Amino acid sequence: MNALKCLSVRGLRAACARKHSSLTTELIQNMDKKATWDRFYTENRTNAAAFKNFEWFFGFDSIRHIILPLLPPKSRPDRPFQVLDLGCGTSALGPSIYKHSPITVHVTCADISPVAVKLMQEHVTSEEIETSDAASQISFVEMDCTQLLNHYGPESIDLIVDKGTTDALLRSREGKDKARLMLCEGLTVLRRSGALLQFSDEDPDARLLWLETEMQKQGIMGHVVTQEVGELRGVVYFCYQVLPAVSE
Ligand SMILES: C[S@@+](CC[C@H](N)C(=O)[O-])C[C@H]1O[C@@H](n2cnc3c(N)ncnc32)[C@H](O)[C@@H]1O
Repeated sequence: MNALKCLSVRGLRAACARKHSSLTTELIQNMDKKATWDRFYTENRTNAAAFKNFEWFFGFDSIRHIILPLLPPKSRPDRPFQVLDLGCGTSALGPSIYKHSPITVHVTCADISPVAVKLMQEHVTSEEIETSDAASQISFVEMDCTQLLNHYGPESIDLIVDKGTTDALLRSREGKDKARLMLCEGLTVLRRSGALLQFSDEDPDARLLWLETEMQKQGIMGHVVTQEVGELRGVVYFCYQVLPAVSE
């Protein structure tokens, strides 16, 4: 078993603690499939007494120091800052950005699983989130994030966040092309002034090479900044910040 697979299994075991082992096996091999996630979120919801956000790994508090400085107070007073969470699941990341943003944001939390999307829609409707900016908005949408150009125009999003979604695709039997497509479409809909953040447990040796190779193949100019986020249950997590080159 290679290092990547080893990490993936470890993460999944933690995430699926107390769950049926067949679900764990299905998840490991098919984390690019809608049916896998529909089952995961359905079982997660059924087994819990009340709704609780599920974090694949750490929550907003561990990364707020990375995200909030990317929402610059006087950047664009003329339009809301567009934020997109790729594969939001039932994480509190998108709602936390919406809640804590110092500027007007439109946060879109997108996921391929309608089960996750419905759970989040119901949750935010029942638990009204107080924001620091009354004009901010949040929405949850069922979307295949490998097809972002069906939903957004080129260079229309300011900040893209991806917590564990590229990891899930890269580690699936048939998900590698989807991970490439999601990155390529993400970088196409991202403004040149924007940033795409991947939060991951993949080692920089592997992820940086993958990101730089894919960007080069797509002819995308830019660079990647790596930052260690911290250690959780013996696994070290990183933030890979992809910054497109700004044309002169
Ligand atoms: C590892 S989980 C991470 C969930 C969440 N970001 C978190 O931190 O808890 C991966 C998520 O990506 C979603 N997903 C998988 N493939 C997708 C795709 N092609 N488009 C959108 N979402 C996808 C899954 O439904 C799942 O919610």
